[in-house]
Amino acid sequence: MSTSVIRLKTSVQESILELLNEQIGMEAQSSAAYLSMAAWCYSQGLNGCGAYFKIQSGEERDHMLKLFDYIVDVGGLPVSPAIARVEKTFEGLRDILVKALEQEISITQSFNRITEQCHKAKDYQTAKFLQWYLDEQLEEEQQARRCIEIYDLIGTEDGGLYRIDKEIIKLKTHEEK
Ligand code: FEO
Repeated sequence: MSTSVIRLKTSVQESILELLNEQIGMEAQSSAAYLSMAAWCYSQGLNGCGAYFKIQSGEERDHMLKLFDYIVDVGGLPVSPAIARVEKTFEGLRDILVKALEQEISITQSFNRITEQCHKAKDYQTAKFLQWYLDEQLEEEQQARRCIEIYDLIGTEDGGLYRIDKEIIKLKTHEEK
């Protein structure tokens, strides 16, 4: 297809479409990782955290589909991503909470990189679309940090894990303020 014909189909540069498709893969991987964390939590009787990560897994899938739809809307070809192996065993709940925060930080960094490339390519439309994700990441990182704070503040002695479990799910049901 000649360049002019491609431009009739989409005004988004191929390199930007590739980055968006890579991000689809990252969101899908994140969704799978959170579901695995949910499974581990349920297996330990931590049903609050299991529900928290199951909800989070669904949110990541929604993020993936929003990118998918955008690529369709601009006339590009979105991918159905392959998922790499996900971790199934964890050292403990704190290990999971730290991994969750690290995952969110790397996703934020990825969106920052894509937004930077959009500015370089003068693709302000896609940059504007990505602003939603940057706002969302602020919230998700804050929530992931709060989980670790809750864990450390309550501590695991005297049935603390049970209380931590109850407090963490409140972050999703918006009971904690
Ligand atoms: Fe879709 Fe939590 O990043």
